[in-house]
Amino acid sequence: MAPIPTLVSLLVLAFASVVLSSPCVTFDSDFNLLVFGLNGKDWNAGPQDTWTSGSAADITTTGRPPFDGANTTCYLAQFFNAVYILNGDAANPSAVHIYDAKAKSWTTQAVQAGTFDVASFNAILDHDTNVFYAVSHSSLFFLDMGSLNAANATALSWENAKDTPYDASYQPVMALAQNHIHFLNVPGAPVGDAEIFVIHFSYFQPEPQAYPLSDGSTFPNTHGQVTSLFKDTGVQQEFAFIPDDGSATYVINVETNTTQSLPGPSTKDAKAIYAAGITSLVQLDSTGALNFLPYTAGQASANAKAAWTKVANVLAVAPPGATSSGSSSASANSTKATASGSATKASAAGSSQTPGLGGAQAANSGSRSSPMSGIGVGMTLAGIFSFAACFL
Ligand SMILES: *[C@@H]1O[C@H](CO)[C@@H](O)[C@H](O)[C@H]1NC(C)=O
Ligand SMILES: *[C@@H]1O[C@H](CO)[C@@H](O)[C@H](O)[C@H]1NC(C)=O
Ligand SMILES: *[C@@H]1O[C@H](CO)[C@@H](O)[C@H](O)[C@H]1NC(C)=O
Ligand SMILES: *[C@@H]1O[C@H](CO)[C@@H](O)[C@H](O)[C@H]1NC(C)=O
Repeated sequence: MAPIPTLVSLLVLAFASVVLSSPCVTFDSDFNLLVFGLNGKDWNAGPQDTWTSGSAADITTTGRPPFDGANTTCYLAQFFNAVYILNGDAANPSAVHIYDAKAKSWTTQAVQAGTFDVASFNAILDHDTNVFYAVSHSSLFFLDMGSLNAANATALSWENAKDTPYDASYQPVMALAQNHIHFLNVPGAPVGDAEIFVIHFSYFQPEPQAYPLSDGSTFPNTHGQVTSLFKDTGVQQEFAFIPDDGSATYVINVETNTTQSLPGPSTKDAKAIYAAGITSLVQLDSTGALNFLPYTAGQASANAKAAWTKVANVLAVAPPGATSSGSSSASANSTKATASGSATKASAAGSSQTPGLGGAQAANSGSRSSPMSGIGVGMTLAGIFSFAACFL
């Protein structure tokens, strides 16, 4: 069997290099699976219990980006039911394209890149403050998305926060959980440890943190993809790490300081990208095929036996290689962690410049009134909880 998929993959990749389609995958706030720019269209695969049969819905509509960027990534802003797309348009690489998942409409947010290199970065979207943090050429930048579920007439700006302790040869493997950005595969760090940036205090913690497996072993120090798992409520506490060789799927819990080892994806693909919901981890490989691994927080033994399964309803409507599928997407060193941000305790928007003001700013950020009626109260509550969480 091996030669056939290989040939298909090569054809798709050849085709993709012409078409330059760069799909990405994420969720809406109801955890419907969304796939953008796959075979030239956008798809809503619905909730997890519908993925293995039927057909995904075509949600392609006007105002969308062409998904022809080299390294397109997308991120769920959970409080706003919005998806932010970075590098969705090769002709306008600094723009953030915003998909309002409730209104099913697109707008384009103008962004001033300043000294930020839009062609080379890794980013996470902080869940509670809705601020992007990105590492580019070993500097840390941020972009405050406010409470946007549609573009604002006022351009936003990438701001240079500070230097990282890492030299430019480090390809960041960065994931968010509990208001901390976790850097894996840092040169010189102990195997199985993460180095941590504390968003709230704009602080690179000097001590690495160990996340051992239950048998005392560790996840490897190697490059890979990461994505943060969501929770029904409260801060995100776990992220998945898939080494480039696809040999395993590690889920790191930053509350218990432990790691679960789950099956690696059936398709070993260093260029695959990933998104996480609450109960699933989804792989979009570089041929455009989608597979998922069911996941239950706190159920390590069940998780260890879970199996990667095809997202059949997307395969039915957008078969890999059928048209201009494929991706090229993942080549980005951008964090593919679409589902983005881990929730965090309150982290101050722009806290990177104002350490110490985190709590007050968090309260502000949480109480930003939402442009969508009905969410304002939730946001305010979230802000209050976040504010409280700061002091836990
Ligand atoms: C995409 O990623 C590749 C490989 O990581 C890099 O060489 C290229 O500059 C990136 N391009 C953009 C537009 O991000
Ligand atoms: C959107 O635009 C308004 C008016 O220009 C401005 O007050 C507000 O701060 C903007 N919001 C964001 C998130 O940039
Ligand atoms: C996890 O590690 C941190 C830092 O070493 C420590 O403060 C925390 O208590 C640990 N949590 C558990 C559950 O051991
Ligand atoms: C991106 O990753 C590729 C390998 O996947 C590496 O060769 C390249 O140098 C990286 N680019 C940047 C800008 O880190």
